[in-house]
Amino acid sequence: MDGKATIETANIKPGGVRIAGLRKSYGPHVALTDASIDIAPGELVSLLGPSGCGKTTLLRCIAGLIQPDSGDIVVDGQSLVSLPAYKRNLGMVFQSYALFPHLTVQKNVEFGLKDRGSTTGDRRVREALELVRMASYAAHYPRQLSGGQQQRVALARALATSPRLRLLYEPLAALDAKLRESVQVELRQLQRQLGITTIFVTHDQREAMTISDRVAMMHNGRIEQCAAPEELYRRPLSAAVAAFVGQVNQISGIIVGDASGGIRLSVDGKPGELAAPRSNNIPTGAAALAMLRPEHMTFTLGQASAPLGEGRQSVNVSVLDDVFIGERRLLYVESEIGQLVVGGRTGDPLLKYDAGAVGSVSWNVTDLMVFPASNPPS
Ligand SMILES: Nc1ncnc2c1ncn2[C@@H]1O[C@H](COP(=O)(O)OP(=O)(O)OP(=O)(O)O)[C@@H](O)[C@H]1O
Ligand SMILES: [Mg+2]
Repeated sequence: MDGKATIETANIKPGGVRIAGLRKSYGPHVALTDASIDIAPGELVSLLGPSGCGKTTLLRCIAGLIQPDSGDIVVDGQSLVSLPAYKRNLGMVFQSYALFPHLTVQKNVEFGLKDRGSTTGDRRVREALELVRMASYAAHYPRQLSGGQQQRVALARALATSPRLRLLYEPLAALDAKLRESVQVELRQLQRQLGITTIFVTHDQREAMTISDRVAMMHNGRIEQCAAPEELYRRPLSAAVAAFVGQVNQISGIIVGDASGGIRLSVDGKPGELAAPRSNNIPTGAAALAMLRPEHMTFTLGQASAPLGEGRQSVNVSVLDDVFIGERRLLYVESEIGQLVVGGRTGDPLLKYDAGAVGSVSWNVTDLMVFPASNPPS
């Protein structure tokens, strides 16, 4: 082989994944309806979504633990569906830790390494154990460890290997909040360094947003939107995605017509109307669901005096409750468009307002998200 060919081969990153039209039923119950996603080599994609949406089923299909009814799973151009699990060359951590009870932590982690016992092998084991803060337990046996410690060893074992695709199912679930946060950050850095394609399942939306290149939001057995965390948060394609990622105020109503190039929503059971950007092609007369994030709304004490800026809307409110949540306060208010949770305020961000205080809440009209009411969040 000449030098050029070697370099080109070395530059090809393994691990491109295509999941196309995957379907899986359990008797009459359809768990995956049409799950499709393309994952670039080296990417970390999280599967996120409400309980029962199909995350575990999809991961088990990829791992080869269950057989899909139809559809394809392709890694590096090779279809996996007809291969048994052990021939798929995937690295996995599932909820059960499955450590070998008769092997020490050290031996458990080096078990899957081709170069175990070598200097490189030893270094990988040490690095993986350091990452999960378990280096000082290398000589312990699994029975001498707590559940969270066993989970960290299982994660270290997966991280020490270099599979073409890594599947991680809630690998940090048994860790306490502080440790979990620091492992998340280091896992992300390690991922950037090693570039091993990873599919990560978590129930924790913040975790998904912290560690992922892209988050795949699942709903009713399909992937509804797969995008970078910021994109998912700013431009959700459905009410289900908007409500799952971050906090939202949900206001249902009827589209009543045009207002200076936009639309208006007459709020159900309330006198108020909401101005909205023209989007989603919801026709006049249709039921719609509007969503506003607390952090996009600002409370100002007292009757509004200064004129509102271009493209802003405000409503008069009275304060119901003002709740301290650490780095900021959340204001619960009653208004002519219903009860709202408000994240921003003018002046001192930690100043507490009394119940009954009167003021106004304003936001940018472009921050209002409007969806057809036929797609309610679960
Ligand atoms: N072995 C099974 N037999 C019958 N139905 C199943 C089986 N496994 C899963 N299901 C059903 O398939 C759907 C998808 O389940 P799955 O376990 O993939 O959801 P999930 O997204 O992992 O949920 P969770 O967040 O609760 O773990 C659910 O409605 C579930 O009840
Ligand atoms: Mg599950």
